[in-house]
Amino acid sequence: MIIPIKPWLDLANGKTFPGEGSRVSAVRSGLVLSRDMDLDELIAERVLSGDLFGFESNDRMEFYHEPILAQEILEAMQPVAGKQIFDGTLGGGGHAELLLQNGAHVIGCDQDRDAIDHAQLRLAAYEDAFLPVRGNFRDMDRILADLGIGTVDGILLDLGVSSRQLDNPERGFSFREDGPLDMRMDDRAGLTAAELVNTWEEKELIRIFREYGEEPRAARVAREIVKSREVKSIQTTFELSEIVGRVIPKVSAKNPATKVFQAIRIAVNAELEVLEVALEKAVSLLAPKGVLAVITFHSLEDRIVKRFMHRRSSPYVDRPEWSAPRANPEFCFHLPSRKALAPDEAETKRNSRSRSAKLRVAIKA
Ligand SMILES: C[S@@+](CC[C@H](N)C(=O)[O-])C[C@H]1O[C@@H](n2cnc3c(N)ncnc32)[C@H](O)[C@@H]1O
Repeated sequence: MIIPIKPWLDLANGKTFPGEGSRVSAVRSGLVLSRDMDLDELIAERVLSGDLFGFESNDRMEFYHEPILAQEILEAMQPVAGKQIFDGTLGGGGHAELLLQNGAHVIGCDQDRDAIDHAQLRLAAYEDAFLPVRGNFRDMDRILADLGIGTVDGILLDLGVSSRQLDNPERGFSFREDGPLDMRMDDRAGLTAAELVNTWEEKELIRIFREYGEEPRAARVAREIVKSREVKSIQTTFELSEIVGRVIPKVSAKNPATKVFQAIRIAVNAELEVLEVALEKAVSLLAPKGVLAVITFHSLEDRIVKRFMHRRSSPYVDRPEWSAPRANPEFCFHLPSRKALAPDEAETKRNSRSRSAKLRVAIKA
Protein backbone atom coordinates (compact mmCIF):
# COMPACT_ATOMS: atom_id res chain seq x y z
CA MET A 1 0.00 0.00 0.00
CA ILE A 2 1.39 3.38 -0.95
CA ILE A 3 -0.05 6.42 0.73
CA PRO A 4 0.11 9.27 -1.74
CA ILE A 5 1.35 12.42 -0.02
CA LYS A 6 0.92 15.28 -2.39
CA PRO A 7 3.01 18.39 -2.11
CA TRP A 8 1.21 21.14 -0.30
CA LEU A 9 1.79 24.80 -0.44
CA ASP A 10 3.07 26.69 2.51
CA LEU A 11 2.23 30.34 2.38
CA ALA A 12 4.59 32.15 4.65
CA ASN A 13 5.55 35.78 4.40
CA GLY A 14 3.79 36.06 1.09
CA LYS A 15 5.85 33.31 -0.52
CA THR A 16 4.72 30.03 -1.96
CA PHE A 17 6.81 26.93 -1.69
CA PRO A 18 5.26 24.23 -3.87
CA GLY A 19 6.34 20.82 -2.71
CA GLU A 20 8.35 22.02 0.24
CA GLY A 21 5.57 21.45 2.72
CA SER A 22 5.51 17.69 2.52
CA ARG A 23 9.28 17.64 2.89
CA VAL A 24 9.09 19.88 5.92
CA SER A 25 6.32 17.89 7.57
CA ALA A 26 8.09 14.62 6.81
CA VAL A 27 11.24 15.94 8.42
CA ARG A 28 9.30 17.28 11.39
CA SER A 29 7.80 13.82 11.77
CA GLY A 30 11.22 12.36 12.34
CA LEU A 31 12.19 11.52 8.78
CA VAL A 32 15.64 12.39 7.60
CA LEU A 33 15.94 12.78 3.88
CA SER A 34 19.26 11.80 2.43
CA ARG A 35 20.61 14.36 -0.02
CA ASP A 36 19.65 12.52 -3.18
CA MET A 37 16.61 10.71 -1.93
CA ASP A 38 13.32 11.75 -3.43
CA LEU A 39 10.52 12.24 -0.92
CA ASP A 40 8.24 9.86 -2.82
CA GLU A 41 10.88 7.15 -2.71
CA LEU A 42 11.31 7.66 0.98
CA ILE A 43 7.59 7.47 1.63
CA ALA A 44 7.31 4.28 -0.43
CA GLU A 45 10.21 2.76 1.45
CA ARG A 46 8.89 3.61 4.87
CA VAL A 47 5.35 2.51 4.08
CA LEU A 48 6.55 -0.80 2.67
CA SER A 49 8.59 -1.34 5.81
CA GLY A 50 5.46 -0.72 7.87
CA ASP A 51 6.72 2.54 9.37
CA LEU A 52 4.13 5.25 8.96
CA PHE A 53 6.52 7.87 10.30
CA GLY A 54 4.38 9.28 13.02
CA PHE A 55 1.38 10.10 10.85
CA GLU A 56 -1.83 8.35 11.75
CA SER A 57 -2.95 5.79 9.17
CA ASN A 58 -6.57 6.03 8.05
CA ASP A 59 -7.71 3.08 10.16
CA ARG A 60 -5.96 4.47 13.26
CA MET A 61 -7.11 8.02 12.69
CA GLU A 62 -8.35 9.43 15.95
CA PHE A 63 -11.20 11.88 16.46
CA TYR A 64 -10.29 15.38 15.29
CA HIS A 65 -13.47 17.41 14.90
CA GLU A 66 -17.09 16.64 14.05
CA PRO A 67 -18.29 18.67 11.05
CA ILE A 68 -21.18 20.89 12.08
CA LEU A 69 -24.39 21.37 10.07
CA ALA A 70 -23.07 18.81 7.57
CA GLN A 71 -26.34 18.17 5.75
CA GLU A 72 -27.10 21.89 5.51
CA ILE A 73 -23.64 22.54 4.04
CA LEU A 74 -24.18 19.85 1.41
CA GLU A 75 -27.57 21.28 0.48
CA ALA A 76 -26.17 24.80 0.26
CA MET A 77 -23.01 23.97 -1.69
CA GLN A 78 -24.35 21.26 -4.04
CA PRO A 79 -20.86 19.80 -4.41
CA VAL A 80 -21.32 17.89 -7.67
CA ALA A 81 -18.54 16.77 -10.00
CA GLY A 82 -16.95 19.65 -11.87
CA LYS A 83 -17.36 22.12 -9.02
CA GLN A 84 -14.34 23.61 -7.31
CA ILE A 85 -14.74 24.63 -3.69
CA PHE A 86 -12.41 26.61 -1.44
CA ASP A 87 -12.66 25.35 2.14
CA GLY A 88 -10.93 28.11 4.09
CA THR A 89 -11.09 26.28 7.42
CA LEU A 90 -10.08 22.73 6.62
CA GLY A 91 -9.58 21.62 10.26
CA GLY A 92 -10.02 17.85 10.51
CA GLY A 93 -11.21 17.74 6.90
CA GLY A 94 -14.75 16.68 7.86
CA HIS A 95 -16.64 19.13 5.65
CA ALA A 96 -14.02 18.77 2.92
CA GLU A 97 -14.52 15.01 2.86
CA LEU A 98 -18.27 15.40 2.46
CA LEU A 99 -17.72 17.74 -0.47
CA LEU A 100 -15.17 15.38 -2.04
CA GLN A 101 -17.40 12.33 -1.57
CA ASN A 102 -20.04 14.10 -3.62
CA GLY A 103 -17.66 14.76 -6.48
CA ALA A 104 -16.40 18.30 -5.98
CA HIS A 105 -12.76 19.32 -6.06
CA VAL A 106 -11.61 20.97 -2.84
CA ILE A 107 -8.82 23.41 -2.09
CA GLY A 108 -8.48 22.99 1.66
CA CYS A 109 -6.82 25.85 3.52
CA ASP A 110 -5.84 26.01 7.17
CA GLN A 111 -3.27 28.07 9.02
CA ASP A 112 -2.62 25.23 11.47
CA ARG A 113 0.16 22.85 10.48
CA ASP A 114 -1.40 19.99 12.44
CA ALA A 115 -4.71 20.38 10.57
CA ILE A 116 -2.96 20.25 7.21
CA ASP A 117 -0.94 17.16 8.15
CA HIS A 118 -4.03 15.40 9.43
CA ALA A 119 -6.30 16.26 6.51
CA GLN A 120 -3.59 15.47 3.99
CA LEU A 121 -3.48 11.91 5.24
CA ARG A 122 -7.21 11.52 5.83
CA LEU A 123 -8.07 12.74 2.34
CA ALA A 124 -5.14 11.21 0.45
CA ALA A 125 -7.45 8.79 -1.37
CA TYR A 126 -9.06 11.72 -3.21
CA GLU A 127 -5.74 12.32 -4.93
CA ASP A 128 -5.82 15.35 -7.22
CA ALA A 129 -9.38 16.28 -6.26
CA PHE A 130 -8.02 17.54 -2.94
CA LEU A 131 -5.37 20.19 -2.60
CA PRO A 132 -4.28 21.17 0.92
CA VAL A 133 -2.75 24.59 1.41
CA ARG A 134 -1.31 26.01 4.58
CA GLY A 135 -2.29 29.65 4.84
CA ASN A 136 -4.73 32.17 6.22
CA PHE A 137 -8.09 32.44 4.46
CA ARG A 138 -7.57 36.21 4.63
CA ASP A 139 -5.17 35.56 1.71
CA MET A 140 -7.62 33.49 -0.33
CA ASP A 141 -7.16 35.69 -3.39
CA ARG A 142 -3.41 35.13 -3.43
CA ILE A 143 -3.73 31.41 -2.60
CA LEU A 144 -6.08 30.85 -5.54
CA ALA A 145 -4.06 33.06 -7.88
CA ASP A 146 -0.91 31.06 -7.02
CA LEU A 147 -2.78 27.93 -8.02
CA GLY A 148 -3.87 29.53 -11.27
CA ILE A 149 -7.52 29.56 -10.18
CA GLY A 150 -9.57 32.66 -11.04
CA THR A 151 -12.94 31.85 -9.51
CA VAL A 152 -14.49 29.01 -7.51
CA ASP A 153 -18.01 27.61 -7.20
CA GLY A 154 -18.07 27.72 -3.44
CA ILE A 155 -16.32 29.19 -0.43
CA LEU A 156 -16.80 27.60 2.97
CA LEU A 157 -15.73 29.19 6.26
CA ASP A 158 -16.38 27.21 9.45
CA LEU A 159 -14.96 29.71 11.89
CA GLY A 160 -13.09 29.42 15.16
CA VAL A 161 -11.04 26.57 16.55
CA SER A 162 -11.41 22.82 16.08
CA SER A 163 -12.06 20.35 18.88
CA ARG A 164 -8.51 19.11 18.40
CA GLN A 165 -7.06 22.59 19.01
CA LEU A 166 -9.36 23.23 21.96
CA ASP A 167 -8.67 19.89 23.64
CA ASN A 168 -4.89 19.98 23.32
CA PRO A 169 -3.53 21.68 26.48
CA GLU A 170 -0.28 22.45 24.66
CA ARG A 171 -2.16 24.90 22.42
CA GLY A 172 -3.34 26.91 25.43
CA PHE A 173 -6.89 27.61 24.19
CA SER A 174 -8.74 26.15 27.14
CA PHE A 175 -8.93 26.72 30.88
CA ARG A 176 -10.00 23.11 31.42
CA GLU A 177 -6.45 21.84 31.48
CA ASP A 178 -3.24 23.61 32.31
CA GLY A 179 -0.97 24.56 29.44
CA PRO A 180 1.18 27.38 28.09
CA LEU A 181 -0.79 30.53 27.29
CA ASP A 182 -0.42 30.32 23.52
CA MET A 183 -3.76 30.36 21.58
CA ARG A 184 -2.16 30.85 18.16
CA MET A 185 -3.83 28.86 15.40
CA ASP A 186 -0.72 29.47 13.32
CA ASP A 187 2.46 28.73 15.26
CA ARG A 188 4.43 31.00 12.91
CA ALA A 189 2.47 34.05 14.07
CA GLY A 190 4.26 36.44 16.41
CA LEU A 191 1.79 37.24 19.16
CA THR A 192 0.97 34.63 21.81
CA ALA A 193 -1.66 34.96 24.51
CA ALA A 194 1.14 35.16 27.11
CA GLU A 195 2.70 38.13 25.33
CA LEU A 196 -0.67 39.81 25.08
CA VAL A 197 -1.57 39.50 28.78
CA ASN A 198 1.92 40.41 29.95
CA THR A 199 2.62 43.38 27.68
CA TRP A 200 -0.58 45.04 26.50
CA GLU A 201 -1.60 48.25 28.23
CA GLU A 202 -4.44 48.04 30.70
CA LYS A 203 -6.74 50.12 28.49
CA GLU A 204 -6.14 47.77 25.55
CA LEU A 205 -6.98 44.77 27.75
CA ILE A 206 -10.18 46.49 28.83
CA ARG A 207 -11.06 47.18 25.19
CA ILE A 208 -10.66 43.57 24.03
CA PHE A 209 -12.45 42.12 27.07
CA ARG A 210 -15.36 44.48 26.34
CA GLU A 211 -15.40 44.26 22.55
CA TYR A 212 -14.43 40.63 21.95
CA GLY A 213 -15.58 39.06 25.22
CA GLU A 214 -18.59 41.29 26.00
CA GLU A 215 -17.33 40.91 29.57
CA PRO A 216 -19.14 43.32 31.94
CA ARG A 217 -16.27 43.22 34.47
CA ALA A 218 -13.64 44.02 31.82
CA ALA A 219 -12.00 46.84 33.77
CA ARG A 220 -11.69 44.84 37.01
CA VAL A 221 -10.23 41.83 35.19
CA ALA A 222 -7.70 44.00 33.35
CA ARG A 223 -6.67 45.68 36.66
CA GLU A 224 -6.18 42.30 38.34
CA ILE A 225 -4.07 41.05 35.41
CA VAL A 226 -1.85 44.15 35.53
CA LYS A 227 -1.46 43.83 39.32
CA SER A 228 -0.54 40.14 39.03
CA ARG A 229 1.95 40.54 36.20
CA GLU A 230 3.81 43.22 38.18
CA VAL A 231 4.58 40.48 40.71
CA LYS A 232 5.13 37.58 38.29
CA SER A 233 4.53 37.15 34.57
CA ILE A 234 1.45 35.09 33.66
CA GLN A 235 2.44 32.02 31.66
CA THR A 236 -0.22 29.33 31.92
CA THR A 237 -3.94 28.89 31.32
CA PHE A 238 -4.52 27.93 34.97
CA GLU A 239 -2.69 31.04 36.21
CA LEU A 240 -4.84 33.29 34.01
CA SER A 241 -8.03 31.49 34.92
CA GLU A 242 -7.22 31.79 38.64
CA ILE A 243 -6.55 35.55 38.29
CA VAL A 244 -9.87 36.07 36.48
CA GLY A 245 -11.61 33.95 39.14
CA ARG A 246 -10.50 36.46 41.82
CA VAL A 247 -12.76 39.16 40.35
CA ILE A 248 -15.52 37.19 38.63
CA PRO A 249 -17.37 34.87 41.02
CA LYS A 250 -18.46 31.47 39.77
CA VAL A 251 -22.25 31.54 39.64
CA SER A 252 -23.00 28.74 37.19
CA ALA A 253 -21.38 25.69 35.63
CA LYS A 254 -19.68 28.07 33.20
CA ASN A 255 -16.06 28.92 33.99
CA PRO A 256 -15.86 32.65 34.94
CA ALA A 257 -12.89 33.05 32.58
CA THR A 258 -14.86 31.94 29.48
CA LYS A 259 -15.38 35.42 28.04
CA VAL A 260 -11.85 36.58 28.83
CA PHE A 261 -10.37 33.53 27.09
CA GLN A 262 -12.62 34.12 24.08
CA ALA A 263 -11.52 37.75 23.88
CA ILE A 264 -7.82 36.90 24.04
CA ARG A 265 -8.15 34.18 21.40
CA ILE A 266 -9.96 36.56 19.05
CA ALA A 267 -7.27 39.22 19.55
CA VAL A 268 -4.32 36.81 19.18
CA ASN A 269 -5.66 35.48 15.87
CA ALA A 270 -7.18 38.79 14.68
CA GLU A 271 -10.29 36.74 14.01
CA LEU A 272 -12.75 39.53 13.31
CA GLU A 273 -10.39 41.50 11.08
CA VAL A 274 -9.55 38.48 8.90
CA LEU A 275 -13.22 37.61 8.58
CA GLU A 276 -14.09 41.09 7.30
CA VAL A 277 -11.25 41.01 4.78
CA ALA A 278 -12.13 37.49 3.59
CA LEU A 279 -15.82 38.26 3.06
CA GLU A 280 -14.99 41.19 0.80
CA LYS A 281 -12.48 39.10 -1.16
CA ALA A 282 -15.01 36.28 -1.58
CA VAL A 283 -17.17 38.54 -3.75
CA SER A 284 -14.79 38.61 -6.70
CA LEU A 285 -13.57 35.01 -6.21
CA LEU A 286 -16.98 33.42 -6.59
CA ALA A 287 -18.21 32.48 -10.05
CA PRO A 288 -21.83 33.38 -10.94
CA LYS A 289 -24.14 31.17 -8.81
CA GLY A 290 -21.17 30.39 -6.56
CA VAL A 291 -22.07 29.83 -2.92
CA LEU A 292 -20.63 31.50 0.14
CA ALA A 293 -21.37 29.52 3.33
CA VAL A 294 -20.19 30.74 6.73
CA ILE A 295 -20.63 28.98 10.07
CA THR A 296 -20.16 31.25 13.09
CA PHE A 297 -20.01 30.47 16.80
CA HIS A 298 -20.64 33.76 18.56
CA SER A 299 -22.64 36.90 18.02
CA LEU A 300 -19.64 39.07 17.09
CA GLU A 301 -18.82 36.88 14.09
CA ASP A 302 -22.46 36.38 13.14
CA ARG A 303 -23.11 40.14 13.20
CA ILE A 304 -20.27 40.72 10.72
CA VAL A 305 -21.51 38.01 8.35
CA LYS A 306 -25.15 39.06 8.64
CA ARG A 307 -24.43 42.74 7.95
CA PHE A 308 -22.16 41.88 5.03
CA MET A 309 -24.69 39.54 3.41
CA HIS A 310 -27.63 41.90 3.94
CA ARG A 311 -25.71 44.90 2.62
CA ARG A 312 -24.66 43.03 -0.49
CA SER A 313 -28.01 41.41 -1.23
CA SER A 314 -30.25 44.47 -1.39
CA PRO A 315 -30.75 45.45 -5.04
CA TYR A 316 -31.72 48.98 -4.00
CA VAL A 317 -30.72 51.39 -1.29
CA ASP A 318 -32.77 54.28 -0.02
CA ARG A 319 -32.08 57.34 2.05
CA PRO A 320 -34.52 59.89 3.48
CA GLU A 321 -32.93 62.69 1.44
CA TRP A 322 -33.42 60.82 -1.88
CA SER A 323 -36.64 61.12 -3.82
CA ALA A 324 -36.54 57.44 -4.85
CA PRO A 325 -34.48 54.31 -4.04
CA ARG A 326 -31.32 53.89 -6.09
CA ALA A 327 -29.55 50.82 -7.41
CA ASN A 328 -27.14 49.41 -4.82
CA PRO A 329 -23.62 49.42 -6.32
CA GLU A 330 -22.62 46.71 -3.82
CA PHE A 331 -25.40 44.30 -4.77
CA CYS A 332 -23.96 40.90 -5.71
CA PHE A 333 -25.73 38.16 -3.71
CA HIS A 334 -29.10 36.48 -3.41
CA LEU A 335 -29.90 35.05 0.00
CA PRO A 336 -31.85 31.76 0.09
CA SER A 337 -32.90 32.89 3.57
CA ARG A 338 -32.28 36.12 5.46
CA LYS A 339 -32.23 34.08 8.66
CA ALA A 340 -29.34 31.99 9.87
CA LEU A 341 -29.74 28.21 10.03
CA ALA A 342 -29.02 26.50 13.35
CA PRO A 343 -28.38 22.84 14.21
CA ASP A 344 -31.42 20.80 15.17
CA GLU A 345 -31.92 19.28 18.61
CA ALA A 346 -30.47 15.93 17.57
CA GLU A 347 -27.22 17.59 16.51
CA THR A 348 -26.87 19.77 19.60
CA LYS A 349 -27.49 16.71 21.78
CA ARG A 350 -24.93 14.65 19.90
CA ASN A 351 -22.36 17.42 19.67
CA SER A 352 -22.55 20.08 22.37
CA ARG A 353 -20.04 22.26 20.48
CA SER A 354 -22.65 22.82 17.77
CA ARG A 355 -24.99 24.59 20.22
CA SER A 356 -24.00 28.13 19.29
CA ALA A 357 -23.44 27.48 15.57
CA LYS A 358 -25.21 29.55 12.91
CA LEU A 359 -24.95 29.05 9.17
CA ARG A 360 -25.49 31.88 6.70
CA VAL A 361 -25.53 31.29 2.97
CA ALA A 362 -25.31 33.71 0.05
CA ILE A 363 -25.42 32.91 -3.68
CA LYS A 364 -23.52 35.06 -6.14
CA ALA A 365 -25.85 36.84 -8.56
C1 LIG B 1 -14.05 24.74 13.33
S1 LIG B 1 -12.54 24.17 12.63
C2 LIG B 1 -13.02 23.59 11.04
C3 LIG B 1 -13.47 22.17 11.05
C4 LIG B 1 -13.70 21.58 9.68
N1 LIG B 1 -14.74 22.29 8.96
C5 LIG B 1 -14.04 20.10 9.78
O1 LIG B 1 -15.13 19.71 9.36
O2 LIG B 1 -13.22 19.35 10.28
C6 LIG B 1 -11.75 25.66 12.22
C7 LIG B 1 -10.39 25.49 11.55
O3 LIG B 1 -10.15 26.69 10.84
C8 LIG B 1 -8.83 27.10 11.03
N2 LIG B 1 -8.84 28.55 10.89
C9 LIG B 1 -9.47 29.46 11.66
N3 LIG B 1 -9.26 30.69 11.20
C10 LIG B 1 -8.49 30.56 10.10
C11 LIG B 1 -7.93 31.49 9.17
N4 LIG B 1 -8.12 32.80 9.29
N5 LIG B 1 -7.22 30.99 8.14
C12 LIG B 1 -7.00 29.66 8.00
N6 LIG B 1 -7.47 28.75 8.86
C13 LIG B 1 -8.21 29.19 9.90
C14 LIG B 1 -8.46 26.61 12.41
O4 LIG B 1 -7.06 26.43 12.48
C15 LIG B 1 -9.24 25.32 12.50
O5 LIG B 1 -8.45 24.22 12.10
